[in-house]
Amino acid sequence: MTPQIELIDIDKHYGAFHALKNITLTIDKGSFVALVGPSGCGKSTLLRSIAGLETITSGTLRIAGQTMTGVPPRHRDIAMVFQSYALYPHMSVEQNLTYSLRLHGVKKAEARTKAAEVAATTGLSHLLGRYPRQLSGGQRQRVAMGRAIIRNPKAFLFDEPLSNLDAALRVQMRKEIRALHDRLGATSVYVTHDQIEAMTMADWVVVMRDGIIEQQGRPLDLYDHPVNQFVAGFIGSPAMNFLPATVGQDGRSIALEAGGSVPIAGQASPGEKVVAGMRPEHLRVAEGPAAAFHVEIGTIESTGSATYLTSRDGSLQVVQSERTPLAPGDLVGLEIEPTNIHLFDPSTGRKL
Ligand SMILES: Nc1ncnc2c1ncn2[C@@H]1O[C@H](COP(=O)(O)OP(=O)(O)O)[C@@H](O)[C@H]1O
Ligand SMILES: [Mg+2]
Repeated sequence: MTPQIELIDIDKHYGAFHALKNITLTIDKGSFVALVGPSGCGKSTLLRSIAGLETITSGTLRIAGQTMTGVPPRHRDIAMVFQSYALYPHMSVEQNLTYSLRLHGVKKAEARTKAAEVAATTGLSHLLGRYPRQLSGGQRQRVAMGRAIIRNPKAFLFDEPLSNLDAALRVQMRKEIRALHDRLGATSVYVTHDQIEAMTMADWVVVMRDGIIEQQGRPLDLYDHPVNQFVAGFIGSPAMNFLPATVGQDGRSIALEAGGSVPIAGQASPGEKVVAGMRPEHLRVAEGPAAAFHVEIGTIESTGSATYLTSRDGSLQVVQSERTPLAPGDLVGLEIEPTNIHLFDPSTGRKL
């Protein structure tokens, strides 16, 4: 793997505010990396720092092996795609596509040839003569992408590019962006607050909170092995349940504060207070002695393909693919595979 973008121990201050803390991250050539985290965690700041739109306070940033200190955005050979598209309203699709090439002195005929190529790649060939106001949201997004592609940049940086689109189009555009990335052999950094988008699009997911990287890894590794309660709760939908518990005297089970005892995998310290993480999709309805604990059902929601059971106190959710004969007010028994239980330290949130 060749690194295309290297961030080494990067810090960014806005006056007294510490927006990025010790960010170290390698983005391999050809990879699709998602930066994900709640609003305000520093995703855009990190992306803009790569682009050179923000000056980093300390640390090293290299693109294609070259240190970027003092290199202005236009010399970094990076393309940014925003949520707002930033198309020129008075220019046709073709003019929007070729604008940056013309700016860099590319001859008109050559620029038109390139625009035709890019339009074919992005499905815009029949729209070259239209103006942005005559396009749908998805088509505008494609023009924004086309404009980025045409310069053949060293990397694509996306900042929540799909937030303005409706749900169905968003799902389609996710696939289109990823397919385009693969076809071009591009290197992409994609910012989103939507963990599903990150999980489905990226090869590598970076979870951020309050200016730090909480965890980075392959999407399913983050789902299977979150290193702390924050990542565990952030990745996965609906979110993981967190139940306060105490490790039993044998060290091989936990007593839930709400009642019931659940076997765990491996050995924990007897008497230790823990938070037990259980994903809604890992909990199963069980009867008789198979049930490890019981909850009273508050609400039942069904989407047809899935049934969502929520406990009366709202602290626990179960998702199952079967329909349910249960009703609100019923006491339901639950079980879970010991290997699907994640134990966290209640004070630090770290995985035990
Ligand atoms: N120019 C700025 N001056 C001061 N604070 C800023 C500036 N830009 C962003 N911030 C702050 O930095 C934090 C991270 O912002 P941002 O990177 O935009 O978050 P995200 O994209 O993850 O939502 C936020 O608390 C934001 O208020
Ligand atoms: Mg942002």
